[in-house]
Amino acid sequence: MTPGPDTLQATTAPSGAAAGPEGEFTDTLVVTGRADAASDVVTLTLGHPTGRELPAWQPGAHIDLLLGESLTRQYSLCGDPADRARWQLAVHRAPDGRGGSAYVHDALTEGASVRVRGPRNHFPLRPAARYLFVAGGIGITPLIPMAAAAEAAGADWTLLYGGRTRASMAFAGQLADRYGSKVRLVPQDESGLLDLASHLAPPASPRPEATLVYCCGPEPLLRAAEERCRAWPSGSLHTERFHPRTDAPSQPATASFELVLARSGLTLTVPPERSVLRTVEAAGVPVLYSCEEGTCGTCETDVVEGEVDHRDSVLTDEERESGETMMICVSRCRGGRLVLDL
Ligand code: FES
Repeated sequence: MTPGPDTLQATTAPSGAAAGPEGEFTDTLVVTGRADAASDVVTLTLGHPTGRELPAWQPGAHIDLLLGESLTRQYSLCGDPADRARWQLAVHRAPDGRGGSAYVHDALTEGASVRVRGPRNHFPLRPAARYLFVAGGIGITPLIPMAAAAEAAGADWTLLYGGRTRASMAFAGQLADRYGSKVRLVPQDESGLLDLASHLAPPASPRPEATLVYCCGPEPLLRAAEERCRAWPSGSLHTERFHPRTDAPSQPATASFELVLARSGLTLTVPPERSVLRTVEAAGVPVLYSCEEGTCGTCETDVVEGEVDHRDSVLTDEERESGETMMICVSRCRGGRLVLDL
């Protein structure tokens, strides 16, 4: 996940290393390195002040930066997962942002401290013989460790990477130098929009595991990739969003339903005007959350029983159909009763 919207942080961050309600790593790290990666993009290297190892992560993972009393933002890790001494991320200063990326650019200089939480991964790289990676702008970040993993695994892969201008495309030079013709750079001012029609032409093999597509970037690019991949085997396309899907169900809820928290032994009522998350929180049950708009995946909760009305932008169609988990900040219940593992 690259920059999401600035988001409210609900869980109070303690001052030392700690675990959240679900045992998630939370700690204060130090900015040990900072560099310009492109116009309006900085890379930050974070390390533990004591030199202690950081939690393991896999390509596609992101962390939360807890930037203040009520501001949390998510950024993809773009360094080397084997390097447990440091995490690297890249942050684009959003021209129309609400303060998160500006804070990172202005305040997180070398030596600064920052609270972090995670890592978390809703965009994992599945095994495949061939990968097509598609990046738009700062959406390149999660795809960098993915390309490295694909290369290390000996997979056949290509990366189609677009941006407004060559100068705005972070890591473009390094990727081209390292991987040669596997990387196709498409600065819009030189070459126009990404040619998804040819890059995402349906594969010859009907086996869904043969070729996988991973796409991260702005919403129009993701929608275009989804459109192109309709002809592909189900499960071929994997995306990660910065903002809620524009086609996510948004009609207001009209009915209450019963909510049972299996581990807490509570039975609650979720009224139409309140989310599951807020209902649970009001009952005094601790839950982690961040964006409250269904994009970050922080509030994902196991479902024990009931039919979910999924309204998030994280889960795949297959995950929705399985009904095993839900994002309780936006998703609701289709029937009259929902049982959660809380
Ligand atoms: Fe971000 Fe629910 S809090 S998906």
